[in-house]
Amino acid sequence: MPGQVVLEYSYLLSAIMFVIGLKLQSHPETARKGNFWAASGMILPMITTLILNRNGAGEAIGMGNVIAILLIIAAGTVVGSIMARKVKMTAMPQMVSFFNATGGAASAAVALIEYTKNPDQAVLVGLLGLVVGSIAFSGSMIAYGKLDGKVGDIFAKFMTYVNLLFMAVIVAVILLVLFGGFDAQTRTYLVFGLLVISLVYGVSFVMPIGGADMPVVISLLNSLTGIAAAMAGFIYQNEAMILGGILVGAAGTILTLQMCKAMNRSLINVIIGSFGGGGASHADVQGSIKEITLTDAAVLLSYSQKVVIIPGYGLAVAQAQHIAHELDSLLGSKGVEVKYAIHPVAGRMPGHMNVLLAEADVPYEQLVEMDDINPDMPNVDVAIVVGANDVVNPAAYDDPGSPIYGMPIIDAHLAKNIIIMKRGMGKGYAGIENFLFFNDKTRMLFGDAKGTMTKLVSEIKSM
Ligand code: TAP
Repeated sequence: MPGQVVLEYSYLLSAIMFVIGLKLQSHPETARKGNFWAASGMILPMITTLILNRNGAGEAIGMGNVIAILLIIAAGTVVGSIMARKVKMTAMPQMVSFFNATGGAASAAVALIEYTKNPDQAVLVGLLGLVVGSIAFSGSMIAYGKLDGKVGDIFAKFMTYVNLLFMAVIVAVILLVLFGGFDAQTRTYLVFGLLVISLVYGVSFVMPIGGADMPVVISLLNSLTGIAAAMAGFIYQNEAMILGGILVGAAGTILTLQMCKAMNRSLINVIIGSFGGGGASHADVQGSIKEITLTDAAVLLSYSQKVVIIPGYGLAVAQAQHIAHELDSLLGSKGVEVKYAIHPVAGRMPGHMNVLLAEADVPYEQLVEMDDINPDMPNVDVAIVVGANDVVNPAAYDDPGSPIYGMPIIDAHLAKNIIIMKRGMGKGYAGIENFLFFNDKTRMLFGDAKGTMTKLVSEIKSM
């Protein structure tokens, strides 16, 4: 079989491996395998390209390029694996954002290099690759900085108008390059101008978005990187890049929309609306805060039949997943049925709770999605809310003035007893009051989630 055919079959196989990888990643139990499939799908076309020594268009790569490619792959592998090993679970969104930035930069670089090789042939797909890749790069770097606390928020409403202006300028420059009839040198100036405007636009697009909305924005930027990679694939006529890019673009778009849906907000609201605060305030509260002692909590839990643990952002911050698993096993050994209720946007990144609990080896059968657990909540003896706030806030049902009104929640308020573990009366991401804490059935167990649960486990053991 001629080399070119082998190469193209390897691209097709790689695309199939990406799809299998994506499918497997949709369930926590198979997600690791999914990663492996997707990574193998990425490596395969690299290997065939190098062994067959030709690119997608059938041209020989050249020994110098082969060496450069191998060195770059080695450097990327070393840096990537060190970063992935060192990163804390709570810092994952930053790392994803950083990696995404590099993807955007690579696509923009491809577009720019290909243009400079042949300035007489500026094509729309190349210019779009340059624009989208640059926006994804600078936007992701700002998102990374914000999540890492290095860059602050600018909540200026006028930025929306500035951004619309940038978009108009970008479209105008693209049209000028394509149809302006300029000589090659002027066109080159315009293309470099386009690069600069796109980089600045990426910054000004992400700057006004609230730090806590970053996961949604990162997912959006991720889909942009995919689109930019697909554009780069069109430039090189490389099917593997086109298909891989389109899959990333589509998956990123679906994830973005799903996150918005689970927060009951439109994408436009995430991008240009400020979020947080509002709704009913402390003055409107009926009822009072009632605490529970560790001993009483231990007794209540030990004599229950059904317990549901509702984990949230605080569990992630406290790194309380391992001790939570110890608690559920301990109660399980006493004949108590323990389940975890998983809200789609609990924590700060998609699948945050699934990832944490999988890390602590909690069996997947114990993780129940919101829609499946809610009908059973009235039969639950104790709902333990661990560092969650917004995802159990009944204001989503009964306060039309609340920013989370209409957001689906886990119905902790329907359980027979509710224990809330948090450090104090701190608000959640939405910055609003939670009347669940004042409910007659609710008891507060104040303290850091890990510390409190550790003491609770000892208390139950000593009974
Ligand atoms: P939040 O509503 O953010 O509440 C977390 C609570 O954890 C806080 O009220 C805090 O209260 C408590 N806490 C913090 N550190 C703690 C510790 N060490 N020990 C015990 N408790 C601690 O969390 P949630 O219920 O998981 O909701 C997630 C929110 O983030 C939603 O509004 C969601 O829309 C938003 N969001 C999610 C995502 C994704 S994709 N997951 C993306 C963007 C936004 P104290 O300070 O009193 O301890």
